[in-house]
Order: sequence, then C-alpha cells, then structure tokens
Amino acid sequence: MSLVYLNGDYVERSCATVPVTDRGLLFADSTYEVIPVYGGEVFSAKQHLQRLQRNLDAIHIPNPLTESEWLSVFKHLAQQEPDSEQSIYVQITRGDYPQRTHQPPQPIKPNVIVFTTEINPMSPAMAEQGLHVMTLADKRWHRCDIKSTNLLANILALDEAKKYGADDVIFIRDGIAKEGASSNLLIVLQGLLITPPNDETVLPGITRDLVLKLAEKNDQPYAEKNICLDDLHQASEIWLTSSTREIVPVTRLDSQPVGDGKPGPYWRRMHQQYQTLKQGSH
Ligand code: PDD
Repeated sequence: MSLVYLNGDYVERSCATVPVTDRGLLFADSTYEVIPVYGGEVFSAKQHLQRLQRNLDAIHIPNPLTESEWLSVFKHLAQQEPDSEQSIYVQITRGDYPQRTHQPPQPIKPNVIVFTTEINPMSPAMAEQGLHVMTLADKRWHRCDIKSTNLLANILALDEAKKYGADDVIFIRDGIAKEGASSNLLIVLQGLLITPPNDETVLPGITRDLVLKLAEKNDQPYAEKNICLDDLHQASEIWLTSSTREIVPVTRLDSQPVGDGKPGPYWRRMHQQYQTLKQGSH
C-alpha cells in the first residue's frame, strides 16, 4: 500500500488530490525536499529539515509542522517498505487561493504533500561505466540555492543532453562550472577535491556536505572554490552527488574521457566511505 501524507491525513495515493487553484500547481509557488531512507531509517533528516526551514523562510511560507511532527510523518511513511531504499518527497505549496493572482495573497494555509518512492541503488555495472555528461549554459534563475519546484530549465537541459546521448549535464555560468541538473559537482584536480562554494548559484547539497566531512575525516585535502572550464576539462575525476544517487562518477565529459575514462581511485575510496556511513545510520 502506498500512502501519501496530505495536510494531516494518510491517504491512498490515488485519493491524494489538491485543488486546481493550488499555487504550487499554477505558479510553482512552493518548495520541496528529497530525503533518503535506508533500512527503514531516514538518513540525515535534521540537515534536510534545516534546509527546508531555510527555504520556507526564503519564500515566506510558515513551516506547517514542528520538527518532531515532520520526523513522525517521515517515520510512518519510511516504515511502509523497510527492506528497500526509498526517498521521501516533501512539497509545501503556499496553498490554495481561488483567484489566480501573481501577487502572493495574505498568509493562507499551505498544502503539505509527503510520499515515498523507491530509489534504485547504483548497480556495479553502472558504477563501472560511470556517467556521460555534457556542459550546457546555465539558463536557470538567480536563486538556485532555493529548492524551488520550478525545474523547467533543469528538465529542458536534460532533454537537450539526451539528444546528444549524454546522461546528465553540468551547468556553466559565466565560464564557471556550477552543478548538475539535480546534483552537486565535485572534481579531483592534482589530488585536490574541489567543489563550488555555496552561494546563490548552487543548491547547498546535503550529500556534498557529507562528502566534505568524510574528506576531512580521512585527511583528503579539499577546497570550496570556483571550477573554471579548464579545471573541469583537466580534472582526473568528476563526481555528481545527490540524496538519491549518492556519489556518481562521470567518465565522459563532452564526449571526451575523464581521466582514463573509468571511475577513479578517489571516487572508489569516497564511495566506500559513504557506504560505511550509510550502514552506520541504521
Ligand atoms: N535534487 N543540486 C540540485 C540542483 C539538486 O536538485 C540536488 C538534489 C542537489 C543535491 O542535493 P542533495 O545532496 O541535498 O540531494 C544539488 C534532488 C535529489 C531532487 O530534485 O530529486
């Protein structure tokens, strides 16, 4: 049975509906979170809830639930399928307002939607193959640090990449590499792990932060600094990180091999450390 949490109730997915005048639907006037669940346990829940709070503050929507209420909703949904890897999807819209107006109405009751979907862990074959990624101009808005549900530019970029046989994209803004369509970017350049600094042009990724913590713990030198196109093309390794895909090695960039065209030793080590971290969480 696949339940959806909708505004305080657990309902069958097919019965979970919001009005057509919901502002999330009409204007993408909403924010979201995606949180992994391993062995029935929610992973890094506190960090995701902190980011959710920051996003709600940024778009002036009151947080409809307390931290303990959120955790109990997550727990309830996570335990539906304790044996598979899941992700919890949370969306909070500004709410339903009968008049279609761009002007945000005075505080109205937000709509809260939470459900789980299965995530398929990276197969060993996929890990060996890695991703084929292309660079594309970043046509997204100027607040990519806010987890907005307006993902049209990301979707169109992935569609464009597919035409060229690529699996994903790396967005380039003013000659600087930023992130993937739904992931953060890290590279290894002369043994140094580098990721763009958190600013308004990238999402502050929870997985990225965990990777940097693991790097620190394991004496892997790292830096948060801009990655120019030359750095990207000279990198011996490129990784994309996200809550649903963990750390994925990129083996081809713009049809050229990255390093020797195989997932590299830094990725292997970090991937292993990440698996150990996951195991320890449940
Ligand atoms: N996306 N950058 C973008 C643009 C993202 O959409 C995501 C995550 C990330 C990685 O963040 P995190 O490590 O906190 O998942 C970076 C989620 C998984 C999604 O949209 O489904």
